[in-house]
Amino acid sequence: MGQRIVVGGDSAGYSYKEAIKKDLEADDRVEAVIDVGVIGSEDETYYPNVAIEAGEKITAGEADRALLICGTGLGVAISANKVKGVRAVTAHDIYSVQRSVLSNNAQVLCMGERVVGLELARTLVKEWVGLEFDPTSSSGPKVDAIDAYEGL
Ligand code: RB5
Repeated sequence: MGQRIVVGGDSAGYSYKEAIKKDLEADDRVEAVIDVGVIGSEDETYYPNVAIEAGEKITAGEADRALLICGTGLGVAISANKVKGVRAVTAHDIYSVQRSVLSNNAQVLCMGERVVGLELARTLVKEWVGLEFDPTSSSGPKVDAIDAYEGL
């Protein structure tokens, strides 16, 4: 079964969110793309509202992952990480993107439209979609320790 991926961000990440959303919609590995906003570059909904909604969709079992884009990729990560059970990272390089899933089982990738070029962001997301965490790897118990802290 394909992945269900939430996309979201604030006005500072709107243009990348729209571009990458189209990539995801055309990707055979993706079963569903769920857009939690913002709905236009003039929509000034705060990034925490969008990021928390995205995180809650994951913990509710309505989505597998989320891609969040703001100006820096920082605020959305901080906000999504407030949702218990969510592991969100900001990453703009291939190694970090790979390890975010393979080592940390992060469900949320955050990027900054003001930080990374669009083509690199698109390439990183393409790679990210194909990554899968192995709970039997040596990283499994480390991620379990995060869950344990959260009482999960
Ligand atoms: C713009 O509001 C900017 O602060 C926001 O997009 C984000 O970069 C915050 O972390």
